[in-house]
Amino acid sequence: MQIEFSLNHQPLSVDIPPDITLLALLRDHLHLTGTKEGCEVGECGACSVILDGRVVNSCMVLAPQVAGRDLITIEGVQSPDGGPNDLQENFIEYGAVQCGFCIPGMVISGEALLIHNPQPSRPEIRLALAGNLCRCTGYQQIVDAIEATAVSRANGSTSQKDRG
Ligand code: FES
Ligand code: FES
Repeated sequence: MQIEFSLNHQPLSVDIPPDITLLALLRDHLHLTGTKEGCEVGECGACSVILDGRVVNSCMVLAPQVAGRDLITIEGVQSPDGGPNDLQENFIEYGAVQCGFCIPGMVISGEALLIHNPQPSRPEIRLALAGNLCRCTGYQQIVDAIEATAVSRANGSTSQKDRG
């Protein structure tokens, strides 16, 4: 079946089997492998994407469900020059990345939080990450990185343009 949707701010039309997940569409058909395949049962958050402004687990969404909607994957989170944006730089700065497997999902959840709540408290950041599991970092540094990004954005030290 043919579906049309917005992928990382670009219109896209694809012909897909009707019974595949959004995760399979991204990784196997579009070769966007930044979105990770973990549990495949909605438990780990490694496959997180932003659909119409909200985080969803792409393993739990059928690909045809994105028709006519706005989808952001980790490939759509970057600075204008294609490098890491300020949140991603802060993940590096605060030592929030170890094996890295959970990180695309963590960054997606962080960006989605900051869209809706630009100045979250630490408990609000932790709540926003409740669906994302990390076996390595203990979460503290990830919360630190998101909090630092919120503060720097609020202080205007990073322009809207630089956020990607
Ligand atoms: S792979 Fe989707 S939640 Fe784990
Ligand atoms: S950095 Fe390894 S799972 Fe999070």
